[in-house]
Amino acid sequence: MQILFLGAPGAGKGTQCKRLSKHLDLAHLSSGDLLREAVKEGTPTGLKAKSYMDKGVLVPDEVLIAMFEEKLARPECAKGFILDGFPRNLAQAGSLDQLLEKLNKQLTVVINMQVDFNLLTERICGRRTCGNKECGSTYHIKFMPPKKDDICDVCGSALTKRSDDNEEVVRNRLKVYEKETEPLIEYYDARLILRTIDGQGDVDEIFSDILRTIKVLV
Ligand code: AP5
Repeated sequence: MQILFLGAPGAGKGTQCKRLSKHLDLAHLSSGDLLREAVKEGTPTGLKAKSYMDKGVLVPDEVLIAMFEEKLARPECAKGFILDGFPRNLAQAGSLDQLLEKLNKQLTVVINMQVDFNLLTERICGRRTCGNKECGSTYHIKFMPPKKDDICDVCGSALTKRSDDNEEVVRNRLKVYEKETEPLIEYYDARLILRTIDGQGDVDEIFSDILRTIKVLV
């Protein structure tokens, strides 16, 4: 299965994709996580991406396309994958079509996570993430707090706050989403592979909704 998640920043894509990836045993390719890893490691991609990410605008298309061309060809993606954060505009969507054609694959379903815009800033600014890359569990100081402040329930590592999770940068990220990414909803709807999920409410119920939607298709 090849699954793509769409949704505004803070819609819960990462939270649900991590669970789904474990449940279906599929690779989870998060563009944001891959870019943050590259920034942390100081690779040429990371050095190029950092200033764009700090401002909350899109990193140039060619960086993302090269990154996903390499990732999608890896053996761990052979049986399918979950895309989270790529593509993010129509040009990237066209490039993804070409990459998939070369691999003789197509998207099985596009899950669009719908959340009221007014909730997103609070969700993003309260997010905390486990600093251990192998774990990467996500929390929220109000909606999903860890048992011990700033400590991951799963692996005991310290939780971190993303540097772009502040109100000023979030405002930009939401504007960029509306202008660049929202048109993808129509793009995939026209292909009849888009399914919209209510991303508000209980995380377990949202996950069950996603599973139901996927099961209908396979
Ligand atoms: P990226 O890391 O992809 O950020 P984003 O799209 O802004 O998405 P988020 O990670 O903020 O949100 P999410 O939907 O995953 O929410 P989460 O599950 O964590 O991108 C960062 C930057 O990288 C971009 O600004 C850009 O510069 C660059 N970039 C990335 N991809 C690119 C591309 N393709 N092209 C160019 N540039 C690119 O949840 C958020 C919070 O809400 C958490 O605290 C969580 O615990 C909580 N939460 C989740 N579900 C619920 C719920 N049901 N109820 C209550 N709280 C909830």
